Amino acid sequence: MTKHPKMTASDLPGRILLLGGTSEIGRAILRSLDAPPDTEVILAGRDERRMAELGETLPFRVQTVRYDGTALDTHQHFVDEIFAAGPVGLVISAAGILTPQEVLDRDPAQAGLLVQTNLTGQVTTLLAVAGHLRAQGSGVIVVLSSVAAVRPRKANFVYGATKAGLDAFARGLADSLHGSGVRLLLVRPGFVIGRMTAGMSPAPAATTTAAVGAAVAAALASSAPVVWVPRGLAVLSTAMRLVPRPLWRRLSR
Ligand SMILES: NC(=O)c1ccc[n+]([C@@H]2O[C@H](COP(=O)([O-])OP(=O)(O)OC[C@H]3O[C@@H](n4cnc5c(N)ncnc54)[C@H](OP(=O)(O)O)[C@@H]3O)[C@@H](O)[C@H]2O)c1
Repeated sequence: MTKHPKMTASDLPGRILLLGGTSEIGRAILRSLDAPPDTEVILAGRDERRMAELGETLPFRVQTVRYDGTALDTHQHFVDEIFAAGPVGLVISAAGILTPQEVLDRDPAQAGLLVQTNLTGQVTTLLAVAGHLRAQGSGVIVVLSSVAAVRPRKANFVYGATKAGLDAFARGLADSLHGSGVRLLLVRPGFVIGRMTAGMSPAPAATTTAAVGAAVAAALASSAPVVWVPRGLAVLSTAMRLVPRPLWRRLSR
């Protein structure tokens, strides 16, 4: 297994950027980090009022900044501005949407928006982030992939395709950063009970935002390049790849 720089208590980041500033998983990761209260957290997202409210619940110095994951031509400038204000130790990429497949079937334009949010916008943003972190010679990027990246399901295949693309991008970016002092941690949660999955019945091995936060914090303190949440999904994902396609097609979810 590839070794990566570990994040230990003594090198917890002074500045953290959360892309998708209202993300439940993103905030759970922040809470799980044993970071000091003078840590500066930048919540980046579309809804500044909501981010300001949520920021008050975090035990850090919080600022909010406007960021739209679909505004591709703004991302380089957005990232330049963040780094112009000082070095960033940790970037958490948690922007994402989960639109039901039946809605996308009826409205392909919404599928395009989903791809832009979950994949294209992450590529433009994270390439800009990687350029700055490379120049810094340090820092960690956390990318939220999903078990949905493992194999497309007919009930969710556009979302799955975006996560498969993001997962491949993140692995390639991690390799390109190897030796630069910058690390990328790829997170593959299963079904997480929370805002994104509200109204859906939990899938087997469903987990919580708090569990994802704790697993990411533990992985940051290790040298793991990938973390599955729950951990058993690593084995389950191998089995998922082996299911014959006619049988896989019959799965309703
Ligand atoms: N929940 C799960 O079951 C699960 C499982 C595996 C992976 N994941 C992934 O984990 C990540 C975080 O999910 P979560 O559970 O924390 O969901 P969440 O609470 O709904 O957070 C999603 C975040 O994405 C932001 N966002 C959506 N479109 C955006 C855009 N165009 N520009 C900027 N920000 C945008 C949302 O901002 P607004 O407040 O403005 O909407 C929100 O901050 C996502 O990438 C998701 O795909 C989730």
